[in-house]
Amino acid sequence: MSYTLLQGTRDHRPNSPILASLSEGYLNDLARDNGKLWFGTAADIPGTAEQTDKDYLRILTNPKNFGEITPANMMKFMYTEPQQNVFNFTGGDYVLNLAEKNGMRVRCHNLVWSSQISDWVTSGTWTAATLTAVMKNHIYNLVTHWGNRCYSWDVVNEALNGDGTFSSSIWHDTIGPEYFFLAFQFAQEAVKKTGKDIKLYYNDYGLESPGTKTTAAYNLVKELQARKIQIDGVGLESHFKVGGTPSVAAQVTAKKEFLDLGVDVAITELDVRFVAAPYYTAAGEATQAQNYYDSVASCMQVGRRCRGITVWDFDDKYSWVPSAFTGQGGADIYNETLQRKPAYYAIAEAITDVPCTVC
Ligand code: G3I
Repeated sequence: MSYTLLQGTRDHRPNSPILASLSEGYLNDLARDNGKLWFGTAADIPGTAEQTDKDYLRILTNPKNFGEITPANMMKFMYTEPQQNVFNFTGGDYVLNLAEKNGMRVRCHNLVWSSQISDWVTSGTWTAATLTAVMKNHIYNLVTHWGNRCYSWDVVNEALNGDGTFSSSIWHDTIGPEYFFLAFQFAQEAVKKTGKDIKLYYNDYGLESPGTKTTAAYNLVKELQARKIQIDGVGLESHFKVGGTPSVAAQVTAKKEFLDLGVDVAITELDVRFVAAPYYTAAGEATQAQNYYDSVASCMQVGRRCRGITVWDFDDKYSWVPSAFTGQGGADIYNETLQRKPAYYAIAEAITDVPCTVC
């Protein structure tokens, strides 16, 4: 399956009659029409320039574009529990209110991660027992506070190294590997308290094709299931480099490995960055479009239980990439002036091209 748009065999191109009639935005509509629960995006609001950028907000809040928002930062530990047992739900509420006003889901992100943890945690003196209590209290409070306003929670984020071992974090290094299973156990208990349907996910990068790390994640799912602890899905982040994405077949195989265990999958943080400028040549954008196509096509090909596709920032204007990787950028589906790029149309084509046999 390859992306043919740029060869002109389909008419989803900029200024085509199809697009003109749709004026702007339709990836979520297409995704919904083809068996997905959402096409979504991360958004780093409030407290950033995005919050007051009318053009950005017009695109973000159009439910034809996006049916899901993931808060890029505001539900993370350092923002939600800045002092011990003092919770701040303001940023998360802002995202939830905006999403709900526009009929969008929210994937709540995240409960336990090595990064963006409050100073009082990282500089504290803990035993396994006292830090476990901190983790439990944090999970219970967030899950019960927002209830099923969260479609899902990323319970543990990025727990694994490339070689399949647990990565270092204050949680792991203080509590030991059990922290992973305890986090899901506490999340399950908190969900039970709410009496609501809230999906619990493990979210990581490097799980998009078969390999050591993917096998390790697969084994974590199996271990949770053996212990009868709730896990509903695995988030495949899908942060890629232009020209360096796994094949459609590899991405399909990795997804099927998880689906065969009975858990859902979702593409949770898709972007495809250039490792060096220029970011906007026709050839570069064509490769990038193909890369986006391949990833979305893999989610379509495995059927309905690849639940949705979320891009991590939809635009190069506010992308997280340049500040994280010097000299890299151009990763998103809208450019720095918020115009749609070929990748946008490639996604549209991937969604409509792939017969969904199990929808
Ligand atoms: O809050 C401060 C603000 O007070 C300060 O003025 C500003 C100056 O730079 O920085 C603000 O913090 C930034 C924060 O985002 C909020 O905007 C941090 O510097 C910045 O490092 C942080 O980056 C976030 C990154 O996670 C942290 O690791 C990105 O926005 C966010 O998109 C990114 O998201 C992660 C996912 O959670 C997990 N998967 C990978 C993904 C990309 O790294």
